[in-house]
Parts: sequence; structure tokens; C-alpha cells
Amino acid sequence: MIKIMFVCLGNICRSPMAEYVFKDMIKRLGIKDDFSVSSSATSNEAVGCDIYSPAKKCLHDHGVSFNKHCARRFTEKDYEEMDHIFIMERRNFVNLCRIIRDDSEGKIHLLREFDANGKDIADPWYTGDFETAYNDIRSGCIGVLKHLGYDTSTLD
Ligand code: 4NP
Repeated sequence: MIKIMFVCLGNICRSPMAEYVFKDMIKRLGIKDDFSVSSSATSNEAVGCDIYSPAKKCLHDHGVSFNKHCARRFTEKDYEEMDHIFIMERRNFVNLCRIIRDDSEGKIHLLREFDANGKDIADPWYTGDFETAYNDIRSGCIGVLKHLGYDTSTLD
């Protein structure tokens, strides 16, 4: 079982989108039992909130199902338990290091490390551009799956 967690600033837009896009992909690839997938925030700003409505609409428009969500902050225990932690942008790393001090075990990666040389995923909370965020997240998730050795060709 590979334990992965997606992390963003608020855990109501990008990281839950990534969580459910990834879950949708592994279900379609028939590999869902290989993974435990979750998401969390670096900040307390939106703790307890559901996925932001425009993010839900975007997922729904792309046929990606999701459950009721409750935003939560990343913890030191998460760092111990996870195999891989995928962050949306560089500043998430700075903020994570306020919780865990440093990435001593090298578990933290930019979501787009493997498909776009570590390009940041712009925050749709500020840009309003959920479609670009979705496409970037989708591409990043495929990059992660390929990096982990899975054949993603049926997802295209
Ligand atoms: P996210 O977007 O990090 O993609 O979930 C944000 C959501 C909420 C806030 C900031 C970013 N906020 O400041 O409440």
C-alpha cells in the first residue's frame, strides 16, 4: 500500500481536486487497492470546510466523483505515515517546514515534478481559473503514476 497525500494552502481547492482526480485515475486503472490517498492544508484558514463550490463544479463537469470533505491541517504524524507528499507550489514547502522543520526523509515533491519540471499550480482561489488548475493537476497526477511505474495510456 502506497500512502500519498496532496497538500495545498487551504485544502479546499487544489489538494482535494488532486485527491479525487488521482482516486478517479487509480479506480479506472484498476489499481485502487495499491494506494491510500488523502489531502491536507498547510494553513488553518479553511479547516473544517467542504471543497469550495467552484472546485466541486469543475470536478463534476469532468466526471470526477468526490465525497463530503472536511479540510484539515497537515500534521507531523502525517509526515511519519506518508510515503509521498505532493505539494501544489513552492510556498507550500516553506509552510510545511513550519510544521515538520525539514523534509529529512525526502518525501515531499512538487506535484508537477515529473510532468513539467516542477511548475507551480496557480491557486484558483485567487485566479478563479479552476479549469487550468484541473488540467495541471491531471497532468501532474499522470506524471506521478508514470513515475511510480504504472501504464497510464488508457487514461488519455
Ligand atoms: P487551496 O486554495 O490552497 O487550493 O485550497 C485556497 C483556499 C483557501 C484559502 C487560500 C487558498 N484561504 O486563504 O482561505
